[in-house]
Amino acid sequence: MRQIDVVTIFPEMFEPYLGSSIIGKARERGLVAVNVHNLRDHTEDKHRTTDDTPYGGGPGMVMKIEPIARAFESIKNDGLPTRSILVTPQGRRFDQGMAEEFSKDERRLLILCGRYEGVDERVVEQYIDDEVSVGDYVLTGGELPALVIIDASVRLLPGVLGDEGSLEDESFSWGILDYPQYTRPPQWGGKGVPEVLTSGNHAGIDRYRRKEALRRTMARRPDLLDKARLDSNDMRLIEEIKEEE
Ligand code: ADE
Repeated sequence: MRQIDVVTIFPEMFEPYLGSSIIGKARERGLVAVNVHNLRDHTEDKHRTTDDTPYGGGPGMVMKIEPIARAFESIKNDGLPTRSILVTPQGRRFDQGMAEEFSKDERRLLILCGRYEGVDERVVEQYIDDEVSVGDYVLTGGELPALVIIDASVRLLPGVLGDEGSLEDESFSWGILDYPQYTRPPQWGGKGVPEVLTSGNHAGIDRYRRKEALRRTMARRPDLLDKARLDSNDMRLIEEIKEEE
């Protein structure tokens, strides 16, 4: 993934986020290109209409075919191999595995941001490879989900994170929650820092962190433990945690 194109009726929502911080720097350095297209630029009527009432009746509006078709045709006109996704609550749920898949995909990622009650199903059939949701809640549109997907995928591209060690650490802990972190001062409001972290005992620190990561995951996200990559050490730590309860 070296290029991302986004089709939206709110292009102004993207630049403040995508121009800042790590993603902004990655773009400046040419590690990824992001182009945001205004769907209304592909309308042909005076009112720049992008939606219409649903066949069969019911509440809300549906995104029309023709502006989307024109936008997609004009973007794909450059001949780049393209993977097209629609962000919608009806999609497959986005996760770290999908972010990895997108970041490794050589094709340009083309993201259509849904609005209103949805998109004419014929658009999906004609142009969309995957429908993707960012979680089981309903937002007002696909713009934040598109930003979530771009952010999570671009940060995995080679060279984007300055500190490559942080990705290695992350792939090691893949599938469970992170351990608690501390920084200076050593005493704050009567609260200290776990002693092992200032001991200089690296094996002790690794063990403490892994155990606390497992403790959190057991308490907050037990569902993750079934899929996580756990070894015999982890199983021992889990037994210890259970005995401490
Ligand atoms: N559009 C509205 N809500 C959404 C969600 N949860 N994921 C993706 N697109 C959406």
